[in-house]
Amino acid sequence: MTTQGTTGGERRARARTADVLVVDDEQDIRELIELSLMRMGLGVDAAGSVGEARALLAERKYRLCLTDMRLPDGEGLEVVRHIATHCADTPVAVITAHGSMDNAVAVLKAGAFDYLSKPVTLEQLRALVKSALDVQVREEQPRTGQKLIGESPTMVQVKGLIDRLARSQAPVYISGESGSGKERAARMIHELGPRAQQSFVAVNCGAIPENLMESEFFGYRKGAFTGAESDREGFFQAAHGGTLFLDEVADLPLAMQVKLLRVIQERRVRRVGDTQEQPVDVRIISATHQNLRERVEQGRFRQDLFYRLNVIELRMPSLRERQEDIPLLAQAILLRLAGDGGPTPPRLTEAALRALSNYAFPGNVRELENILERAMALSVGAEIDAGDLMLDPSHEDDVALTGVDLNGEGGGLQQYLDRVEKQAILDALGKTHGNRTAAARLLGVTFRSLRYRMERLDMKGE
Ligand SMILES: Nc1ncnc2c1ncn2[C@@H]1O[C@H](COP(=O)(O)OP(=O)(O)OP(=O)(O)O)[C@@H](O)[C@H]1O
Ligand SMILES: [Mg+2]
Repeated sequence: MTTQGTTGGERRARARTADVLVVDDEQDIRELIELSLMRMGLGVDAAGSVGEARALLAERKYRLCLTDMRLPDGEGLEVVRHIATHCADTPVAVITAHGSMDNAVAVLKAGAFDYLSKPVTLEQLRALVKSALDVQVREEQPRTGQKLIGESPTMVQVKGLIDRLARSQAPVYISGESGSGKERAARMIHELGPRAQQSFVAVNCGAIPENLMESEFFGYRKGAFTGAESDREGFFQAAHGGTLFLDEVADLPLAMQVKLLRVIQERRVRRVGDTQEQPVDVRIISATHQNLRERVEQGRFRQDLFYRLNVIELRMPSLRERQEDIPLLAQAILLRLAGDGGPTPPRLTEAALRALSNYAFPGNVRELENILERAMALSVGAEIDAGDLMLDPSHEDDVALTGVDLNGEGGGLQQYLDRVEKQAILDALGKTHGNRTAAARLLGVTFRSLRYRMERLDMKGE
């Protein structure tokens, strides 16, 4: 039986068999739990404190962690939080001596999947371990360990749909505003599904120069054109057996849309300069923050391709539609920003949380991340206050939702339109890392028009 205080060498030797980490400072209880778990055929490591638990967790991945609430150097809650941030796919449960509901709610909120109150019966323990390891089997796949955070009804629905989509092979079209988590959702669909062991190839359709598109997507043969010095795979070949994520799919030029449709229908690609076609097996997930239906109506996106891509639509809700998730998201983001083993992240004051819930978040979760990163850099001490957030006043109190401010304070229609235009340009520049040519393409305007607009809006420095 492993006990606390084993040397690093011994631990490593047992690395393969350790399934469960038990954190408790009372030796008797620890041994009782260890014994019960070992009877279930599980390997056990034990820690007597928060510090020891952290050290063990840093060394290896556990399939389950059970922790006591009261520990000599802190609380079980800290173990839960540590796991939620650093080894999010390890389920953790808390054993508490004082079954108080307050405690239970706090640990569940912090990411524990369940709690037991002492004295723990063998049956209870068995049931808990079984359900945890079942959960684990389902969740073992995600390699990035990234999850979609949020417990609002709309987010719960989204996560349920993602689970089902993962099992299907149908093309999925993900819509949603900028920064709402479209790419993260696409990765989850891939990682939870049967293709998880194969590649996930993400392509930003707006960032590829038009003249290179065909060779980038389909690959080329040596000598196909000047500079083609050897055979090269395209995105389709690279994603063979896996998933091809067509991001910003609305930006595909019409000529490319035709070619893409053919490949998707026939499941075969022909490399540039090749006479032969090769079969490809890819699952297609596409996304854009633009309104693709509108583009179809305008004749800028082919309807037949749209129907091919949009067999099932997953709509990512904006942050405004799930404001109740803001505290949870903010907490997770702050923990991540504080970093591995870093200082305790600062806390948001009531006023800061209120300000965040009144904010319109045109850039959704990405914007929340940016706001918190800046606030963390600016704040002194353990708290982030409303002022540290430096929220753009034009988006406070849902200005973006209500549109023109008819009280006259935010200016009239022209000022409102300028704000929207400026934000769109800033978003595009943000996405293209300041590349104006690419930003213009994203915005569907010419480079000259973008330059003119930026001058008019006094954005020369951007
Ligand atoms: N539900 C969520 N939980 C945690 N993090 C999230 C969530 N949604 C988005 N994020 C984070 O927000 C950022 C933006 O997400 P993502 O890139 O998936 O958005 P997007 O919809 O693809 O944006 P864009 O339209 O700008 O490409 C990422 O850092 C992502 O990890
Ligand atoms: Mg994206």
